[in-house]
Amino acid sequence: MPEYNFGHNAELKNAIDYLHREWTYKPVGLVSYGSVSACTRGAQMIKQVVTTLKMTPVFEAVSIPFVHQLIDEEEGLVPTTS
Ligand SMILES: Cc1cc2nc3c(=O)[nH]c(=O)nc-3n(C[C@H](O)[C@H](O)[C@H](O)COP(=O)(O)O)c2cc1C
Repeated sequence: MPEYNFGHNAELKNAIDYLHREWTYKPVGLVSYGSVSACTRGAQMIKQVVTTLKMTPVFEAVSIPFVHQLIDEEEGLVPTTS
């Protein structure tokens, strides 16, 4: 998930609204990206939504800051090796 203006994105919320019944009691892993904050604020916000819909977010998360530095116009996502 990306972060837009300090919150979770509308597309993810729409997907959760549509699918949450079949995701009830499932674990939730969060992979977030953004600029300086790596969407950590958006990830915290979406935990409030999924827990209320009876899903269980795990504490461990993948958070990718400055994602624009990892994207090549032609090759797409280019992870660093360091
Ligand atoms: C309108 C807008 C607001 C954004 N707000 C944030 C933000 O609050 N925090 C953050 O870390 N990144 C922010 N970003 C960066 C995005 O999270 C994301 O890294 C970037 O838009 C590229 O991903 P995308 O193509 O999936 O949108 C923002 C981007 C846009 C276009």
